Amino acid sequence: MKLCVCKNYDEMSRRAAETVSRVVREKPNCILGLATGSTPLGMYRCLVDMSRNGLDFSEVRTYNLDEYYPIKPTNPQSYRYFMDHNLFGQIGIDPDNTHLLNGEASDPAAECAAYDAAIEADGGIDLQVLGIGGNGHIGFNEPAEGLICETHLTALAESTIEANSRFFQSSAEVPRHALTMGIQSIMRARRIILLASGQNKRDAITGLLNGRITTSLPATLLLLHPDVTVFCDEEAYRG
Ligand code: GLP
Repeated sequence: MKLCVCKNYDEMSRRAAETVSRVVREKPNCILGLATGSTPLGMYRCLVDMSRNGLDFSEVRTYNLDEYYPIKPTNPQSYRYFMDHNLFGQIGIDPDNTHLLNGEASDPAAECAAYDAAIEADGGIDLQVLGIGGNGHIGFNEPAEGLICETHLTALAESTIEANSRFFQSSAEVPRHALTMGIQSIMRARRIILLASGQNKRDAITGLLNGRITTSLPATLLLLHPDVTVFCDEEAYRG
């Protein structure tokens, strides 16, 4: 696992965007795995600027990590809405090439199985972007005694509901469930970058850098992956 400590959020966002842009230039029809949350927003703004300056996303295909369940794609708190407004609508990507789990699927298990199959049929993810929860979750793989390999329906941890309630009118409105790529779905990506910013990510980043794998800090499973780079700012890094 490589570590890149940046002096602040802007530098972290720029350096992460540079990594994504290199992958897109080297392989114009690459497959990106994308994340939501407030952390990657700066990176997405950089990618929008790069696209205005010629970075070509017309052949890129994307698969997002997770989606609330149940939720309508038109709900401003859905991850589909987030991605359309913060990235996809501004980079000239073909909407048909952007994939998110369907937060309205009547059969969530079938939806999840089809999602993993579609990623595999497409050739697999070249670069997976991850954030990290304050409790060490990746996607919505919450700390637990055991972690699920494949994409699946999961219940959100109380601390995640609390953390994400800042985007909703109240915590009562936060969906209690989500569809998320599983640990193995994430680990199949050829390359992974994880972004972390701010003091509330310090414990999770410290735990990750300790080098001890535990399902009570799901991001530590990434220690088994051969090509992971952690981009964090100084606040998230306890040096
Ligand atoms: C959310 C998402 C994660 C994200 C994390 C951190 O619940 N499911 O993919 O990485 O929590 O979010 P933020 O970047 O807003 O701190």
